[in-house]
Amino acid sequence: MRRQIIEPLLEIEKLSTHFETADGLVKAVDDVTLRVEPGKTLCIVGESGCGKSVTARSILRLVDPPGRIVAGRINFRSREAEEAVDLAALDPRGPELRRIRGKEIGMVFQEPMVALSPVHTIGQQLVEVLRLHEQLGKKEARERAIAELRGVGIPNPEQRIDAYSFQLSGGMRQRAMIAMALACRPQLLIADEPTTALDVTTQAQILRLLRKLQEERGMAILFITHDLGVVAELADRVAVMYLGNVVEECDVDSLFHDPRHPYTRALLRSVPRIERRARRRLPTIRGQVPHPQQRPSGCPYRTRCDHVVLGECDVDNPDLVSDGEREVRCVHYPTADSIRAGHELEHEEVAADAG
Ligand SMILES: Nc1ncnc2c1ncn2[C@@H]1O[C@H](COP(=O)(O)OP(=O)(O)O)[C@@H](O)[C@H]1O
Ligand SMILES: [Mg+2]
Repeated sequence: MRRQIIEPLLEIEKLSTHFETADGLVKAVDDVTLRVEPGKTLCIVGESGCGKSVTARSILRLVDPPGRIVAGRINFRSREAEEAVDLAALDPRGPELRRIRGKEIGMVFQEPMVALSPVHTIGQQLVEVLRLHEQLGKKEARERAIAELRGVGIPNPEQRIDAYSFQLSGGMRQRAMIAMALACRPQLLIADEPTTALDVTTQAQILRLLRKLQEERGMAILFITHDLGVVAELADRVAVMYLGNVVEECDVDSLFHDPRHPYTRALLRSVPRIERRARRRLPTIRGQVPHPQQRPSGCPYRTRCDHVVLGECDVDNPDLVSDGEREVRCVHYPTADSIRAGHELEHEEVAADAG
């Protein structure tokens, strides 16, 4: 079956979210098209500053001024509506969006201390969410809250429910955050680097927990990370972002085994491989992500790319081209056939594995 036939749960079309700052225009998200299928995981990956968080916040309409959605649609298949709802067109403070946020789309962020209230217990916050969205009575809501904490693997939930977030370890706090995000059984969970602040062992436990909950509940996940190891663990599909653009979108196996875009290839080369000798210098991507106010003309990756075609890459930013399975935004892949065939990007392969 062609993947286009499955109705997406979330479909972002040509979304642009810009910040008009005193120092100039920041195109944090520019012409981004993405889709998340029901029950599946889309990972957004890219270096810091590439627009991953602004994309997530745009979906939830949590972008603060001077940030503004200047173009595009964010179509979401709400349980409550026959037709997809365009979140980009809703009033960010209106009742419809407030219902969708929390009930139909759950969210977890990197730092639960920011999202959790320091002056209310975990239980009070969970009970509030449950009462707001599910009209439960106090006692019922407390029982449900305990069950939700148990469901995310928090031991002794009957006691922990009365703890404050600062009394919990980082891992337990992130579990509490997940319990809150998922209490109302959303169809979509948006997770923005939820394990980045955790140690490796706790990170692995949280990823396992998310996979288990996804299996049990059939929810879709939009998972944001800069860590390709996490992508390999979780993703069905992957969108690679660079300076506000999606530069490649494909299934997870294609990403690791057959990447197309020069940026994707560079990202993969920058991952430490266990079999590589420790002494060998770790390849990193040349240069840095330019400051968004110094966004290069044409393709934004051209200043770091080993395959620049002068007169082309510095003139136009190519469109995202699709072959039905994969999308690539690069002058080397101008047609569906060229994407399917791949492209010998020669000097790159030499540089990657020499020695
Ligand atoms: N409030 C803001 N004002 C101006 N620029 C912002 C603001 N928030 C984010 N940005 C800019 O938007 C770009 C994308 O940021 P972000 O989405 O947080 O990146 P990522 O999550 O990929 O690290 C960055 O260049 C950042 O500086
Ligand atoms: Mg971020």
